[in-house]
This record gives sequence, C-alpha cells and structure tokens, in this order.
Amino acid sequence: MDRALRILFLTHSFNSLTQRLYDELRECGHEVSIEFDINDTVTTEAARLYAPDLIIAPYLRRAIPEAVWRRHVCLVLHPGIRGDRGPSALDWAIINAETEWGVTVLQANAQLDGGDIWASAGFAMRAARKSSLYRNEVTEAAVTAVLAAVDRFRGGTFVPEPLDECDPAVRGRARPLMRQTDRWIDWLGDDSASILRKIRSADGAPGVEDEIFGQPYQLFDACPEGSLSGRAGEIIARRDGAICRATCDGAVWIGQLRRIDPDERTLKLPAVDAIGPRAGAVTELPLPAGAAAGVSTYREISYVEEQGVGYLYFDFYNGAMSSAQCARLQNAYLSACARPTRVIVLLGGRDFWSNGIHLNVIESAESPADESWRNINAMNDLAQAIITTTSHLTIAAMRGNAGAGGVFLALAADHVWARTGVILNPHYKSMGNLYGSEYWTYLLPKRIGRQRAEAITENRLPLGVRAARRLELIDDHFGTSEEDFRQEVRVRAQAIAQDPAFPFALAEKNRQRMRDEAERPLESYRAAELERLRMNFYGFDPSYHVARYHFVYHVPHSWTPLHLARHRRLN
Ligand code: COA
Repeated sequence: MDRALRILFLTHSFNSLTQRLYDELRECGHEVSIEFDINDTVTTEAARLYAPDLIIAPYLRRAIPEAVWRRHVCLVLHPGIRGDRGPSALDWAIINAETEWGVTVLQANAQLDGGDIWASAGFAMRAARKSSLYRNEVTEAAVTAVLAAVDRFRGGTFVPEPLDECDPAVRGRARPLMRQTDRWIDWLGDDSASILRKIRSADGAPGVEDEIFGQPYQLFDACPEGSLSGRAGEIIARRDGAICRATCDGAVWIGQLRRIDPDERTLKLPAVDAIGPRAGAVTELPLPAGAAAGVSTYREISYVEEQGVGYLYFDFYNGAMSSAQCARLQNAYLSACARPTRVIVLLGGRDFWSNGIHLNVIESAESPADESWRNINAMNDLAQAIITTTSHLTIAAMRGNAGAGGVFLALAADHVWARTGVILNPHYKSMGNLYGSEYWTYLLPKRIGRQRAEAITENRLPLGVRAARRLELIDDHFGTSEEDFRQEVRVRAQAIAQDPAFPFALAEKNRQRMRDEAERPLESYRAAELERLRMNFYGFDPSYHVARYHFVYHVPHSWTPLHLARHRRLN
C-alpha cells in the first residue's frame, strides 16, 4: 500500500503540534482533513463522511468512540514514554525531574493509552515550562514517531507491539491525573528549584493554585532569580509586569497570574495587572544595567552584541505583545539602531517569535476597543521603526512560531529566516474577520505578490517553513533545534556584516525604500488599514470582540470550521 493516504485528524483543537503534523504529512503527499473532538456522534459522522485510510489523534482529551476505533485504525499520540499512561504525562515527567522523556504512538483500543505501539521517539528533558517542552521537544519527537507510524501503516505488513509491562526496558507507568495537592508550594520549606518545577509542570494549564496578598491565584511563567533574596514567601520586587517572590534559598519570578474567582471568568494576565492596585506597593526593580545575558533573572527583552551584529531577543509569554511591551521593544530596537553595528537580528522568543497584539490584556481593559486601538498602533510604531531603518540591515530570525500580526512584523525586516519546524499563521481572519495592520498590505504583496497574498490571508491555514519558502514568504529555513538555528544565524549574520559589499546592500535597501515611498507613502498603508480596523473595533459588527472573547477564555469549539474539515466541504 505504497500510496498517499487520506488521513483524518481527530483533535481537541488545531494547536501548534497538530498544525505541525498537518504540514509534515501534507509535505509527504498525504491528504489531511480535520475534525474537532466535540462528541461521539460528530466524530462518528466525520469518519463516515471522509472514509479515511487512517485516523490520527494528535491531541485528544477524551477516548475515541468504540464504533470508530473498531472500524478504522486510530493512532493516538501520547506525550509520554513507552508504558506511560494517564492525562498528566509531561506534568509528572517535570515534577519527577526525569532527564529523558518521549512520545509514543499507540493504536486506540478499549484501554486509554494502553493500545499496541506503532512507534515512539525520545528526547532529553530541558528545564522549561511544560508548554515550551510541548512546543519544542515533544513536537519534534511527535513528527519523528508519527511519520514512522504512518510509513509502517502504509507498508501494510507492520505488526504493532503490545505493551509488555514486565519488560525491564519499559520505564513508563500508569499515573493518575496530577492534582493541585501534588503541586502545592510550601513557600517556607520548598527550595527554588522545586518551586520552579511545580509551576513549570502546570504551565500553560492548569497553573499552580496559591495565595498572593491573601487572594487566590493560579501561577504561571516561573523564572529563576540569581541574586535577590528576602523573607520566604514575601513579594520582594516587580519588573515589567512580573513579581519576584522570596524562597527559603533565594527567589523566583512569576510572570503571569490568573485570579481565582468562582463567580467570575478570569484571565491569565501579567502578574502585576492581575494583582491590581496592591502591586503598586512593590518596588519596581529595573534590570541592572549591563546585566550579563547568562545571569538568571526575569527579562523579556535582552540585547547582545558580537562582531558588528546586534541580537535583540524578545521573549514575551505566549508571543503576545501588549501596548507596553511593544513600546519597550521599540525603545530597545531604537537603542540597538544607535549602536555602531551593521546588522540587527530580531530573535523573538524561543517558543514564539510573536503572536501579535495581546488579546488577554485587551479583553481585561476597561474599553477593549480602545486598548485594541492602542495596541495595534504600538505594533505599527514598532513595525514602522523596523521598515524605515536606514542605518542597519535587519534580520527576523524566527526561533519559534508566529501568528497573525507577528508574522507581518517579521516581514518588516530585510531578511526573514525561520528555524526548520516553525509554523506560521500569516492571517488575521480567524479572529472574527479582523482586518489587521502592521503594514501588512505593504509588506505581504511586496514579498509574495498580490494573488498569493490574497490566497494565504483568505484560506487561514498554517504554513510550514518549506511552503513558506516556496511562496517566498521567508528567505530561508535551517537548523531543527533552537541551538543549531541560533548558531547558523550567527554565522550568516556575521557574514552579512563583514561582507565588503555591505555598504552597497545597505544603500540599495535605502534606495528601494525611497522608491516605494515615492510610489505610495508608507503612512497611507497604515491609514487605510486602520480605517478598516476602526470598523472591527468600533463598528456595528461585534465579530472581533466575540471571537476574542472565545479565544481568551478558551471556549470549546462547537463545530469544526469548514476550511479545516475537508470532508464536510466535499459533502
Ligand atoms: N494574545 C494573547 N494570548 C495569546 C495570543 C495573543 N495574541 N496568541 C496566543 N495566545 C495564547 C493562547 O491563549 C494560549 O494561552 P494559554 O497559555 O492559556 O494556553 C497560548 O498563547 C498558546 O496559544 P495556542 O493557540 O494554544 O497556541 P498554538 O501555538 O497552538 O496556536 C496561534 C498559535 C497563533 C495559531 C494561535 O495562538 C492564535 O490564533 N493566536 C491569536 C493570533 C491573533 O489573532 N492575534 C491578534 C491579531 S494581531
């Protein structure tokens, strides 16, 4: 059976891992349709409508109905090593300080995570948030294991291996759902390392429940602090929206909090915003001037200079950029432009390069429309600063995924490179028909032409780096691991900075900008985009506000959009 397959993805949502597998399988020539796991009836109907060769469940929160797994081979991706079972696989791996972990592809049967094994792949654990491990190591291992399983299925002779729990090589065990009591922090007794593990094991969900100033919160986004200390449990400093809390052997930073209120839906927000006025009493402690990059502390933005190249990192939680974060980044960018370097590399964060405006901060504002307006203008100011840079050549080096305005912000740079494996979502439309700004109407057609620009903004599908390169949306991709990518970026950026032809390249870039400006002023693109956005924010159609509400509160899907559910389009 050596042919392209019709594969149905059964998934809780079209999350980044699912998008990556979608891209990889399509690059291999397979046809993929998607159905969200809403209920058994809908799942059964999707399988009937599509009649797939194979069903893959990259991210499921419920068991597949028996009527489906008895009729079709259903491969379930489990983020755990062979033998591991249960809904908190990565959480336990982090809490238990495992050094090696992995993913397993199992055939669905009556026993949850207990089916025969089609493939598995391992990775070395990293001291990081659960969500970061999921978006990096787990995703890369998942690609390896799922592609191996699909090839084996296609070969037609492979016999999946039943789990043998008596085999000493099988390290995994069935583990229960991790509860808050398993993660509870004793601020007087736990050391910083175990507090970091507890918070990281619960990030991005469900967070660790705790109290701050007598109020209940869920904690997220923990980061080590190398030098501060105080009375264990006390909040001793704040910086750029994060708070620093003393432990018995030092301190840790907490970037994000969600207030727990049984009577109200609440949002994950920068810690200082979530605490409110009481955070005003805490001392704002700016990053010490000249703090070396290697020193452990909370920093969203950092700058490193080497051999004529300035490297600007901006690691915003979930890639979301509030008005304040955009302004801070713009300041840092302008400072980088004032340095006697030749090239500026914009490296974003490890997990995300950027996901555009900060929808949670917007949702929590007194006037979400006004805050949307402020935020998009702050993004535009930043994009404009990059586009109009005359002193340097600029490179957007995407270590992590980018979505919506984040992708278009990257296009503001002269060169756009991505780590192999990055997924881009260069469209706004899924957010309630948002028109978007960030000068995308200038940047996108300029790079890829008007027709292609229209196609990718309309069809709302994720793009892998190979497709993005074919479309010329990005200039190149390389390096599967973040470390390899960064190393290669260094080599290439230095080569540009040291190239004897650098002055000519810079002069040509500036001439091109002047030609573009003469043809149509940059500001007229912004004005036209903002005119459309004004309707999104302040007009009669509330779609953007409704879609944002659904997005930030993770309201479960009640149907699969037709642009993803190919089988429903065909029928
Ligand atoms: N503002 C606030 N939070 C954002 C965000 C944004 N722009 N983009 C992503 N997030 C948050 C999600 O709410 C989620 O939060 P969690 O930690 O509570 O789970 C987290 O980032 C991860 O997002 P998720 O959708 O699970 O990640 P993904 O990698 O699977 O998908 C995107 C990535 C970009 C497709 C998706 O996050 C998205 O559509 N984001 C919105 C982009 C957008 O419309 N921006 C505004 C216009 S510029």
